[in-house]
Amino acid sequence: MTSIPSEHDTRTWNALAYVEEYYGGDSIPSDEVAMFQFCVETLRRDRRHYERMLDVGCGPTVHRLAPFARWVDEVHVADYDPRNLDHVRRWVAGSAEAVDWSRYVELTLRLEGYATPPAAVAAAEDRLRRLVTRTCACDVRRADPLGEETTYPLVTTFFCVDCITSSLRAWQEWMVNLLGLLDRGGRILLTALGESDGYPVGRRRFPSPHLTQEDLRAGLVAGGVAPASIRLRTAPLPSEERAPYGALGYVLMATGVRA
Ligand SMILES: C[S@@+](CC[C@H](N)C(=O)[O-])C[C@H]1O[C@@H](n2cnc3c(N)ncnc32)[C@H](O)[C@@H]1O
Repeated sequence: MTSIPSEHDTRTWNALAYVEEYYGGDSIPSDEVAMFQFCVETLRRDRRHYERMLDVGCGPTVHRLAPFARWVDEVHVADYDPRNLDHVRRWVAGSAEAVDWSRYVELTLRLEGYATPPAAVAAAEDRLRRLVTRTCACDVRRADPLGEETTYPLVTTFFCVDCITSSLRAWQEWMVNLLGLLDRGGRILLTALGESDGYPVGRRRFPSPHLTQEDLRAGLVAGGVAPASIRLRTAPLPSEERAPYGALGYVLMATGVRA
């Protein structure tokens, strides 16, 4: 494990405050739509069916898995904080206390070109619930983040390694650990904060290492991703929709295939 400490303090992390702050508004912000579009497009271009996928640093969320449901047989999700995994388990169990992610499932159907009557959204949610077969602990600071030697043909990670440290060196090291979870020939798809020093949750602030597109590309290559396979995209974080978070930077999206 690295000597650099994570600055993500789980004691001050409030999962529901995070969900409310970033996913609780009246409408889905345009940067979220851009990220879902990127996932839908990537999977369509890929035309590959995956036996299983792993989402690293899922937090209390499941919505980002929705675009993958058509293309995978099984979804595993992992996070450092067991309380986040409890939220995912509640959603998978269909508990009345679970966070409602239905509008993101509806967004996915819409981007895929399907009609979105309530019954279709409910059916897509049920399918996604059945696909999530494992919720497990992970720590990207470890060379084996899951504590076992295993690799996946598809790994996703959304605002994880870039959201737990302000150190670019730590981010680089932990990305190599994370990319070690990828099969040779496997696909990574991720999002990260671009050129941001951190993000707030309530009155708490969490760190980010001010990543540039070049940093992200170099981090992927250092972890074994084939340079020619990398596709990068950015989306603005609209301050009027994310107010008062204009200072967050922008969203970086990337995908590539491990050599
Ligand atoms: C900003 S949240 C991202 C949640 C979700 N993926 C999303 O898109 O909203 C960052 C996540 O990283 C997790 N995390 C913190 N330290 C970690 C570590 N050492 N290894 C793996 N995940 C970690 C946190 O528990 C948190 O769920």
